Amino acid sequence: MKTLKFYIQKAYKEKWAIGQINFSDWSQVRGIVQAAQNLKSPVILGTSEGESKFVGLQEAVAMRNAMRKKYSLPIFLNLDHGKTADYLKEAILAGYDMVHFDGSKLPLDENILISKKVVAFAKNKGVVVEGEVGRFGTDASRLYTEKFEINEENLTKIDEATKYVKAAKVNLLAVSIGNFHGLDVSGVSPKLRLKHLQEIQKAIGIPVVLHGGSGIRPEDIKEGIACGISKININTEVRLAFSQALRKTLEANKSEITPYKYLNESIAAAQAVVEEKMKEFGSENKI
Ligand code: G3H
Ligand code: ZN
Repeated sequence: MKTLKFYIQKAYKEKWAIGQINFSDWSQVRGIVQAAQNLKSPVILGTSEGESKFVGLQEAVAMRNAMRKKYSLPIFLNLDHGKTADYLKEAILAGYDMVHFDGSKLPLDENILISKKVVAFAKNKGVVVEGEVGRFGTDASRLYTEKFEINEENLTKIDEATKYVKAAKVNLLAVSIGNFHGLDVSGVSPKLRLKHLQEIQKAIGIPVVLHGGSGIRPEDIKEGIACGISKININTEVRLAFSQALRKTLEANKSEITPYKYLNESIAAAQAVVEEKMKEFGSENKI
């Protein structure tokens, strides 16, 4: 199987994006992988620190391995929004393909220092590292964000991104261009700052990661990919579809207590969202 680095470079050159879809249980993994199988798309399974602590690092790796073996698909695993080098090292040792160091709340020099340590550790194990400069609007556990307003101060600054990438030598960079975690309560996300993205891309010359992929306008996704976005993270929309289907099924079948019966609708709902995203990202038939 080709490496994750190969697929990221391929996406970057050919102008499509690989989806990172977060999960916190096996049923979600089944929906995500079924979508990848149907569309012949590479996929990255993502776990935040919280999700990985619930699932277990070893268990997440075992799930990826089982799915790779069963489907012979390029399925990868990323530790998303890791806050310490130690935890990312644990994930690497457990067998993750990729780690994301989120030092966005740290002063830039500290962010660089820790990122360099993570890169040094990851490099000789062939593990991909994503860094982050600039801050998104909200934290990852929110569903709806009330009237999100972009704080200009939090957008990724070009000089900081340039300095960071040059020093830390990460493979990809997560940026703040008007994106945020969760869905806007109005149902329509504010437009991404695509001109700003273009300038960042020109300055750093490495693939860009778009966090907070849920709710982003399809036209922004399209233009963003043309401007260097090569990986897009989705969590909220899949969680929402999965949970809504579960509520509906249990509500309609009050005496149903068998997980392997009542979880099927949720798996299908997660799968449908992921397929829609993969089509939008252009990752269909790219294995
Ligand atoms: O790191 C995970 C993502 O950025 C997910 O964002 O929940 O808005 O899709 P989302
Ligand atoms: Zn994120």
